[in-house]
Amino acid sequence: MAPANWFRGAALLALGAILGGLFVSSWEHPAAVAQQNNPPVTQATLLADVTRLRDITPPFSHPMVDVAMFAANLWFAGDKKNWPLANYYLGEMRNRLGWEVRLNPSPKGADGTLMDMKNIFDGIDTGSLTKLKTIIAMKDSKRFAAEYKNLLEDCYSCHKTAGRPYIRPMVPTAGSQPIVNLDPGATWPQ
Ligand code: HEC
Repeated sequence: MAPANWFRGAALLALGAILGGLFVSSWEHPAAVAQQNNPPVTQATLLADVTRLRDITPPFSHPMVDVAMFAANLWFAGDKKNWPLANYYLGEMRNRLGWEVRLNPSPKGADGTLMDMKNIFDGIDTGSLTKLKTIIAMKDSKRFAAEYKNLLEDCYSCHKTAGRPYIRPMVPTAGSQPIVNLDPGATWPQ
């Protein structure tokens, strides 16, 4: 082998060794770190995890607080004829109602039997909720106010079935999110 060729061969060999070393260390390192961060799962660690998850789970009423907030915002957006915003709040309210149903599918009803929350929700979803969505799309202020009240009657009907007749909704007198401009003609911020 000529000296120049020999030198090139040795350099390539050294480069190969370095790259190989880098590859092995990058391959092994994450595995080692992962093992450090995830100690082996045992019955005791599972139990501790479940207990912790139970501790940090929000109460069942949590989505309903969102429902109430979005329902109030929906009223004021519709009242100000801000239809895109009203449609948004209707969607958010519907989404949180669905979450409540998934979180608490069968609470004990007023008559002591287990409620079928999904069944009640589906009735409202295809009833007053769908009607309100259509009315918002048609920008019909007059029918909006009337159908909104029908929705509140549906809310209350479920509360009575759930043994909570004391949670009686009403047409809101104040919005709950003063940071959102309800004026559809607002020009600031751009
Ligand atoms: C499918 C049944 C159902 C429907 C529909 C429903 N709710 Fe409820 N709501 C409940 C139940 C059950 C609770 C009690 C939750 C709990 O304590 O776990 C509740 C609780 C509430 C609360 C009290 C939340 C708190 O602070 O604890 C408000 C406010 C409320 N609902 C508003 C509404 C409004 C407004 C609507 C209609 C837009 C509505 N709900 C529709 C079942 C329903």
